[in-house]
Amino acid sequence: MKICICGKGGSGKTTIVTLMADAFGKHGKSVTVLDSDESNSGLFWMLGFEKAPLPLMESLGGKRKVQEKMIAGFSRGQGEPEMAIWEGGALSMASLPSQYVVQREGLALITVGKIYQALEGCACPMGVVAREFLKKVELGPDEVLLVDMDAGIEHFGRGIEASVDAVVCVVEPSLESVSLAHKMKELTGSVGAAFQGAVLNKVTSLAQEASLSEKLQSLNVPILGTIYHHEQIVASCLEGKALDPGQAGLEMERIVRTHFLGDPP
Ligand SMILES: Nc1ncnc2c1ncn2[C@@H]1O[C@H](COP(=O)(O)OP(=O)(O)OP(=O)(O)O)[C@@H](O)[C@H]1O
Ligand SMILES: [Mg+2]
Repeated sequence: MKICICGKGGSGKTTIVTLMADAFGKHGKSVTVLDSDESNSGLFWMLGFEKAPLPLMESLGGKRKVQEKMIAGFSRGQGEPEMAIWEGGALSMASLPSQYVVQREGLALITVGKIYQALEGCACPMGVVAREFLKKVELGPDEVLLVDMDAGIEHFGRGIEASVDAVVCVVEPSLESVSLAHKMKELTGSVGAAFQGAVLNKVTSLAQEASLSEKLQSLNVPILGTIYHHEQIVASCLEGKALDPGQAGLEMERIVRTHFLGDPP
C-alpha cells in the first residue's frame, strides 16, 4: 500500500508520517518512508536514524542530469507528468542499492533530494523523480510506503499522487487548513487517486475537535481520527530527538487499525 501524507505547511505531516510508520510497524508491516520534501531535513532523526540516506536523485546522476533529461522531454513535447527519468522496468525496495536506504528491522527511509544551494534552480526534478519512483516501485502484500510530502498543493500539479493507493491530509485547527483539505480532496479525485480522509492534528480540546469536524463534514471531507496536541511531540521536535509515540502513538494506532487494516472501529 502506498500512502501520501499531505497538508498545509507545519500542520504536522512529518509527525503524522512518523506516527503512522510506528503504528504500521507494530502491526507487522514492513514500512518504507519516502521523504519527498525538498526543504526540511529532520525526518531521519524523527524516525530515530543517525543519518539520512543518499538521495535517490544521486542514483540518477544528480539534479543536473535529471534536468537535462527533463529538457529533452520538453523538447519532444512531453509534459512533466509523462516524463520518464528512470531506465528499466519495475523497482522493488530490495533492489535499491544500500547507500540510498537507511534501515532497521521493519523500517526503511529513502529520500528524493534536497535544495542545497542558493540559485540552484527549482525543485521540479525532485517532483519528477518522486512521481516516477512511486509509479515504478512494486510492493509486497506486507509492505507499506508512506510519502512525506512538501507543504501545499504544488505536488498535485506534478501528478505525484497518481500512483498511490491513498491520500491522507493532515489538518491543524485553522480554517486555512480545512479549506486546503477540501481542495486536496478535489485534486486527489482529478489525478485518479483515492482520498482516504483527514487526520486532525494538534487538537487541544473537545470543543476544538467538534468545530474542526463540523467544518470538514460540511465540505464532505471524511475524518479518519484525531491526534491531540502533545507536549512530548513539541519537546522531541525542539531537541531534534526521535519521536517517542506515547499517547499519540495509541491515537494513531486506532486510525491505522480502523482505516487501513480493516479492523472494526
Ligand atoms: N500532535 C502534535 N502535538 C504537538 N505538537 C505537534 C503535533 N504535531 C506536530 N507538532 C509540532 O508542529 C511542528 C510541525 O510539525 P511537522 O514538522 O510534523 O509539520 P509538517 O507539516 O511536516 O511541516 P512542513 O510543512 O514544514 O513539512 C513540530 O515542530 C511539532 O513541534
Ligand atoms: Mg514536514
